[in-house]
Amino acid sequence: MFKAKAFLIPALLAVLSLCPAAAQTNYYAPFAFGTDTGYARGADETATGRWFEKSEADFPGKAGEKKRHFKMIKWFKERPLDKAIGFCLYTVDHGTLKLTAQCFPLLPKEPKTVTLEVMRGGKWQAIQEQPVQYPGWSAHFRVENWDHSVDTPYRARLGELASFTGLVRKNASDKATITVASTSCNSPYDESVYERADLVKNLRSLDPDLVFFAGDQSYHHDEHTYGWLQHGVQFADIIKDRPTVCLLDDHDYGHGNLWGEGGKASQGTKGATDGGFMYPASFVNMVERCQTFHLPDAFDPTPIKQGIGVYYTALNIGGVSFALLEDRKFKSAPLGNIPEMGPRPDHIKDPAYDRKSVDTPGLSLLGKRQLDFLEHWATDWTDAQMKVALSQTAFCGAVHLHGSKKNRLLADLDSNGWPQTGRNKALRILRKARASHLCGDQHLAVVVQHGIDGYRDGPITFTNPALVNTVYGRWWWPEDEKPGSGAKIDSPLPWTGDYEDGFGNKITMLAYANPKHGHGGDLRKNRGSRGDGFGIARFNKTTGEISFECYPRFWGGKTAAEVQYKGWPISLKTSDNDGRKPIAHFPEIKLPEANMVVQLINDDSGETVYCHRIRGKSCTAPVYASGSYTLKAGKSTADTILAQKKF
Ligand SMILES: [Fe+2]
Repeated sequence: MFKAKAFLIPALLAVLSLCPAAAQTNYYAPFAFGTDTGYARGADETATGRWFEKSEADFPGKAGEKKRHFKMIKWFKERPLDKAIGFCLYTVDHGTLKLTAQCFPLLPKEPKTVTLEVMRGGKWQAIQEQPVQYPGWSAHFRVENWDHSVDTPYRARLGELASFTGLVRKNASDKATITVASTSCNSPYDESVYERADLVKNLRSLDPDLVFFAGDQSYHHDEHTYGWLQHGVQFADIIKDRPTVCLLDDHDYGHGNLWGEGGKASQGTKGATDGGFMYPASFVNMVERCQTFHLPDAFDPTPIKQGIGVYYTALNIGGVSFALLEDRKFKSAPLGNIPEMGPRPDHIKDPAYDRKSVDTPGLSLLGKRQLDFLEHWATDWTDAQMKVALSQTAFCGAVHLHGSKKNRLLADLDSNGWPQTGRNKALRILRKARASHLCGDQHLAVVVQHGIDGYRDGPITFTNPALVNTVYGRWWWPEDEKPGSGAKIDSPLPWTGDYEDGFGNKITMLAYANPKHGHGGDLRKNRGSRGDGFGIARFNKTTGEISFECYPRFWGGKTAAEVQYKGWPISLKTSDNDGRKPIAHFPEIKLPEANMVVQLINDDSGETVYCHRIRGKSCTAPVYASGSYTLKAGKSTADTILAQKKF
């Protein structure tokens, strides 16, 4: 049962001790991120200081920059007063609701405290109050002992000025299939600046249980508050009444590309290829507070360099466990770490280069801390029937043409195809749990099966298309225009099958949705044919079947069944995420219960070979290499030894 009083006071005290109350915050302090660097001085200028008094003349730089900034302020000033809360978003995980109410920048006379109310017995009841944070203008709620067995209407209220109403959905655990809307890259260069009515209508018609924004919610770089509000207001009607995951990609942090190097300060050298964050830590933390506070608590919240936070964690939606990864934050940078092979340290064009020369010891992709989390997640099956990893970008370079059909690039170090050893480490852990993988970033929708030691032995990734693809087009276009090798893929698309990416990683292309037109300008002029839209992933917990669907942005009065991109839907089974070929099996073992977690451990290395939930009451566990093994089983974790055997 929901215990409002029990949690209200401790929760309020806990939060008040962490952040200043509204009365103690100077909401109009200029230079909210300091004055140390140009990045600091130029950060969030339209939503800080006495923003409402600023004119075009207050912004440095060229006329275009002055206009760009003033347009943002104009939107803030012209919003109806009762819309001062732009949107809310939330998750519930294991009995804890976390919810963010995102306000517009507020005027001095306007309230600075948000009250969270829930509908109980036909009446609104206030359950928590939180101050609006500055900078960022967000208010954050963490409510323990949440009754997740019922739908609960909620309302965030900014005094008497404004309110925002939504629904905290009940746990979807009674549904056989969990549906995820997978999206990314919401370019603002579009005819409709403040709405995405087409996308929201189409997404609502598919009624996802989870909305996943994989990154690049904001492309406004220095002006995050504006970009985040623009994105949230556009999608408010789909996120207000279902759980939402936001992961942060480069543009959200104000970067074109990002190699986080564990939170180092970047000088912005050669496109930030020197590694780290260009904007100050206080700006980075504001971005993360606004976009990710509502996620379940971080697995290990220990801050990284410069006091920058982390948010990687797990989220359970109705029996599907999602690992939420930060694949940019710990990643090594190219500049100084690998030989330079062209004018850009992050691009490789020479087909003759030595693939191993860029995979040097000491380079990180996910980082040790995050790999430890993934190992833990792979073996903890509490309340979980299936597993899915969510991250910003793909563990390969499944693209040939970048930015224009004339620009062929061999390898892009901004993808998770590099460093190759880090890529393989991450994929091996996902494979242990038979986890699928959803991501964004690339703008080009593809479904790829990763090869680790050989083709088709690793997990399957669905990279979603850009929501709006007007910034940077990409194309899957093999130079010889020939199908890949290996067993033929059942697809109407010509260029499917086994390929190597520009780092030498093995990939099997299953589907791709190329834009028709050739460069940014053409993409902007041709709304209906630029390969944008969103993905839908369905996870059937009863059968283990998975369906990946890919939808364009515009449906033109057609139904969902009529409009998917050629090559989709793609059907697979959970077991397809582990394509290793067994050399032997344990003899069949009857299990005390149905659908237990089964774990195989290599006794020589101590490593988990796999850990997943089986279907049924018996198993004939496969083994993939000679050695001594222990087979264990359990309900949530495999804690009981079933058998030990040498192969
Ligand atoms: Fe993007």
